[in-house]
Amino acid sequence: MKTLTITRPDDWHAHVRNGAVLKTVLPHTVRQFARAIIMPNLKPPVTAVAQALAYRDEILQAIPEGGDFTPLMTLYLTDSTTPDEIKKAADSDAVHAFKLYPAGATTHSDSGVADIKAVYALFAAMEKHDIPLLIHGEVTDQDCDIFDREKLFIDKHLADIADNFPGLRIVAEHVTTTEAVQFVQAAGVNIAATITPQHLLFNRNAILAGGIRPHYYCLPIIKRESHRLALVEAATSGNPKFFLGTDSAPHLTSLKENACGCAGCYSAHAALELYAEAFERAGSLDKLEGFASFFGADFYRLPRNSGSVTLDKITWTVPAVYGVNEHSIMPLKANEALSWKLR
Ligand code: DOR
Ligand code: ZN
Repeated sequence: MKTLTITRPDDWHAHVRNGAVLKTVLPHTVRQFARAIIMPNLKPPVTAVAQALAYRDEILQAIPEGGDFTPLMTLYLTDSTTPDEIKKAADSDAVHAFKLYPAGATTHSDSGVADIKAVYALFAAMEKHDIPLLIHGEVTDQDCDIFDREKLFIDKHLADIADNFPGLRIVAEHVTTTEAVQFVQAAGVNIAATITPQHLLFNRNAILAGGIRPHYYCLPIIKRESHRLALVEAATSGNPKFFLGTDSAPHLTSLKENACGCAGCYSAHAALELYAEAFERAGSLDKLEGFASFFGADFYRLPRNSGSVTLDKITWTVPAVYGVNEHSIMPLKANEALSWKLR
């Protein structure tokens, strides 16, 4: 195959930050995607509809001339979110979901939920007003091995949430394990999952290949090969419960290459190309369109996009860095070759 044309895709999980970083990264997402679910883990977090609208305006201002892009806003769930704010969010055309970060699970999650059972009334309000709950599914127990945090979250929390709120639409974000894939497959149609490019392309050896490679460090952490294979199988299966969410998470190079480096892989610069690589290796390029362009929109009950994008089978080299004023962001596969290129 020399070219691949698919309906314009969407990114159902993206961190675009704000300020100078937003200006650098947003053009990449706009070039690749018609819409993106925008994560709310700013400093301070986006917890109210009014804040989401202001953040949406900042994003709209950063769209390059001629760009056609719709940011789909989310709110950050905290212990003090009110049922009234949930109703407001559900009534707003700009806000599409709430994001649950267990407190301490990841970047800027300190305002997250400390006791998940304590916010069950809020899940009930989301179920009632029919607004999806997006979950970073990792426990924060310090005695839990980092590679087991997702599995334990499913056993301790996700299964119970699913049982108690059968009408609540839930996205298990950036699933990384066989257990998460199996959970989502067995659950009702109200439960879906996003899968990132890094979890499809790499196993945990990538983080420690000849030395510590901080640009492969993200959360949930990349797991062993058997899990990667389960994720590839799910993404390329044509099952509409699994759809594209890059979790593109830019951090300045200086904060990644650090004694305590931040979690996050930056992938917006080549998102579709990275997914195409993974799908081609699995012999399933024909399944990319459903995963990238249809299933997420259907789950969120938004219209599928019109128009198309074309990828050419051309080898190109990913830039070493993208500049942010005097700083930089190092992208996934920096200085390395990719075999598909978005036209
Ligand atoms: O690796 C990650 N980076 N995982 C997350 O959950 C958050 C993200 C970020 O915001 O940097
Ligand atoms: Zn994320």
